[in-house]
Amino acid sequence: MTAETTAIRTTNLSKSFWGGLRGQEVKALCDVSLEVATGDIFGLLGPNGAGKTTMIKILLGSLRPSSGSASISGLDSTRWRARQRVGFLPENHRFPLYQTGMQMMYHFGGLAGMSRSDIKTRATELLELVDMSRWHKTKIKKYSKGMMQRLGLAQAMLSDPDIIFLDEPTDGVDPIGRREIRDILLNIKKQGKTVFLNSHLLAEVEAVCDHVAILDKGKMIKTGPVSGLIGGKPSYKIETKHLSPEVADRVSHLYPDSKIVGHLISMTFDDALQVNALIDLLRQNGVELISVSPRKISLEDSFMQLIKGEAAGE
Ligand SMILES: Nc1ncnc2c1ncn2[C@@H]1O[C@H](COP(=O)(O)OP(=O)(O)OP(=O)(O)O)[C@@H](O)[C@H]1O
Ligand SMILES: [Mg+2]
Repeated sequence: MTAETTAIRTTNLSKSFWGGLRGQEVKALCDVSLEVATGDIFGLLGPNGAGKTTMIKILLGSLRPSSGSASISGLDSTRWRARQRVGFLPENHRFPLYQTGMQMMYHFGGLAGMSRSDIKTRATELLELVDMSRWHKTKIKKYSKGMMQRLGLAQAMLSDPDIIFLDEPTDGVDPIGRREIRDILLNIKKQGKTVFLNSHLLAEVEAVCDHVAILDKGKMIKTGPVSGLIGGKPSYKIETKHLSPEVADRVSHLYPDSKIVGHLISMTFDDALQVNALIDLLRQNGVELISVSPRKISLEDSFMQLIKGEAAGE
């Protein structure tokens, strides 16, 4: 990636805190190198305490790395200029509850140095984008969590940034609200913006991100396109009309990894030829098939395998 096509880069980034029990070192990030292409939605995925918020804080210049470096649009993250074209929705934010949605936009736009007329034009557009126009005169204390997060997305976009950092944007939001947020993110991407999204919700990352990095205990254990992480061997479910105990035994003997429950066989295959071989075997034994369905390996399966592998020292 060239400087123009790389929106965010970290090189051997490490961050330690001396705040753990008895003051010992907590390695929040260990030697993390990643690149985010301009125009991508990039997901930083990891369990609680993995180092995701620490990463965003370093990229936004509110924490300094212990070693290594981070840059935004080619500028070192410790320089204020790196933050000029950046929007941010923090984790667990608290917006002023006594303000209306529109008042809050004036408040944040003012802090970003925007004129009142610019704020008005831009906020009106953005509240429309996040489907909050109807509520702009309602006090924030009456908003649901989903509405609060949609307003937060509008706030993060207010100064028309090129790169938007979102720390757990759907935390505490119900499935309908999450879906709305997902659609807004895809809309933001269409405008050519780069989105850096922290999440521990795998389904969310899978549905919306182009690339992901998986962090665990400060270490990056995998990075790449979402499609590449949802790899693994294909898994199939074969539903039969009637499976006699003799045929079931034969299948179990030939395919020790298969799982047979009643008339249903679940099995992971090395390739499609193996599926056909099992189907042939069943039919030769007079077994009628009702369905053969592939089961997609989700990012969740892949994530669990990776985290378990890491714990086992693979
Ligand atoms: N200021 C600090 N002082 C001491 N330790 C800290 C500090 N900030 C973070 N940590 C520790 O660093 C590690 C990473 O924390 P971080 O908040 O980056 O994780 P996270 O992936 O964002 O977690 P979550 O999903 O819960 O938001 C944790 O062990 C945390 O306790
Ligand atoms: Mg966090």
